[in-house]
Amino acid sequence: MDVKNFEVSEELMVGQKVMDSQHKEFFKRLNTLIVAAASNKNQKEIQSFIRFLSDYIQTHLSMEERLMQKYGYKEFEGHKSQHDYFRKVYTEIMDDFSNGKLSLSDFVKRLEKEVGEWFENHIQKVDKLLGAFLVEEGAGEEEG
Ligand SMILES: [Fe+2]
Ligand SMILES: [Fe+2]
Repeated sequence: MDVKNFEVSEELMVGQKVMDSQHKEFFKRLNTLIVAAASNKNQKEIQSFIRFLSDYIQTHLSMEERLMQKYGYKEFEGHKSQHDYFRKVYTEIMDDFSNGKLSLSDFVKRLEKEVGEWFENHIQKVDKLLGAFLVEEGAGEEEG
């Protein structure tokens, strides 16, 4: 199965250190999961990559939300509602897979489209604005 390899290219950099490094790590973990699923690794291994990624996503989204609130970011509600949408879709994909409702190839496709591509789009349209705001505030470089 041919799979997509996600990476944080120049156009996905938001310019804020913590956000950029977490985005890189996120895509690295997503790639690992996609490769494991596409090469039909054993269930236990796939489940452990799923947990690994899920924890990371939660930490990252909450970190951004914490910074938005801390610095009184005006677009907080809109940004958070995108995160909430993503949390819902993400949980649904993982549950469907764990309950045997998704074949491995459908699982991989959804990870590519609804997780990876969604995230690329979110970074370009929404995280970039937040990154610029935080840089201007001199904010959050120390947080992780
Ligand atoms: Fe982000
Ligand atoms: Fe975000």
